[in-house]
Amino acid sequence: MTLRIESLELRNFRNYEEAVIDGLGDITVLVGENAVGKTNLIEGIQLLTALASFRHGTIDQLVRHGENQGRAALRATDGNRQLDIELLLDGKARKYRLNGKAKRPLDLKGLIPSVVFTPDDLDLVKGSNSGRRSALDALGSQVNKSYYTVRRDYEKVVRHKNRLLKDEADPTLVEAIDEMIVTVGAQLTVYRIALFERLRPYLVEKYREISGGREELGACYVPSWEALFRKTDETASFDGPHRASSASSSPFTRDEAREALARARHERAGEERRRARALVGPHGDQILLTLDGQDASIYGSQGQQRSIVLAYKLAEAAVIEEILDQKPVLLLDDVMSELDGRRRAALVEAMEGGSQTFITTANIDYFDEAMLNRSKVVNLPLDKKGCGC
Ligand SMILES: Nc1ncnc2c1ncn2[C@@H]1O[C@H](COP(=O)(O)OP(=O)(O)OP(=O)(O)O)[C@@H](O)[C@H]1O
Ligand SMILES: [Mg+2]
Repeated sequence: MTLRIESLELRNFRNYEEAVIDGLGDITVLVGENAVGKTNLIEGIQLLTALASFRHGTIDQLVRHGENQGRAALRATDGNRQLDIELLLDGKARKYRLNGKAKRPLDLKGLIPSVVFTPDDLDLVKGSNSGRRSALDALGSQVNKSYYTVRRDYEKVVRHKNRLLKDEADPTLVEAIDEMIVTVGAQLTVYRIALFERLRPYLVEKYREISGGREELGACYVPSWEALFRKTDETASFDGPHRASSASSSPFTRDEAREALARARHERAGEERRRARALVGPHGDQILLTLDGQDASIYGSQGQQRSIVLAYKLAEAAVIEEILDQKPVLLLDDVMSELDGRRRAALVEAMEGGSQTFITTANIDYFDEAMLNRSKVVNLPLDKKGCGC
């Protein structure tokens, strides 16, 4: 059964000195003017569920100014069991506890998954490939613990290789680390493509629903060993005879990926030395989104780009449910004002689909009365005792 968050507690977390919000139901609407702490609350819940923050805040930033320690905690229940998840921000360390026992973030991954949606997510379409790779990795890390560890290990080996290249280290040292780049990198690319292939049909379908089927969304994962050989002007459209032009990203076995990566690395070794930077590997993979074959980041209108982001978020929620058999918590930060009627309706439909939802707004008028009657409305700032009960 799906876990539901019942209450939240914050102490010296961001702008909150002491806060308790309990009696949480399926939908919680957090209402308040600018700078009262709406996004801070969303961030706190994300840190306790996805165990990561979309703001990538450091401990110093998360702990209330002037304090040394901060704390965020939630209580969740599914009717049978009760879970207390706690995050202690203590000097330099971020420590998690489950029912009072110390845990690694890895141990808590997937326990209460969440999907966060903020206005900044437009970067998913407009921004660089690295943002799209990070979004895919964040999803993978929530649904699969080995995805999380492979990605973490890969980042370490790439950093190491870049250091060696910068220091103009002995080529045999670089070759040794390349063995690891190929092994871990191939595994990461295979994980990513497999996950992307699960996401893609939902993404295409949700986009069709939101846009009314006016144009076709295409989504394609291009591994670095292919991306490196594309001409730059080719990235704008997928019309060429390139493998990536097919409707789906090519599913590779790990051995095929290893072989392709090893070959590309071998061919690019000289260039990597010259440019003192690792060029081949999943950190150079691309995720391309198109509308009727044209690059959505370049040719998509604002509205089309917003629809893609919303479709992407709804697709993430669907994939989490498919893999973990549990609906994720939806964390929607100030998104209503960004959406037109059709997109708002799609979002409301998702909220009513059984996911526990937290939604922030500066303007309660975006919600109709029927929805407000079914929601817990928390007015921020909280009362003097820090209580949103
Ligand atoms: N570590 C911290 N210590 C104290 N205050 C902080 C800390 N980090 C952030 N703040 C403050 O928290 C306040 C609320 O921020 P938040 O982003 O949650 O506002 P918001 O309610 O989402 O506003 P908006 O509607 O403009 O998005 C800001 O004024 C910010 O300066
Ligand atoms: Mg905000």
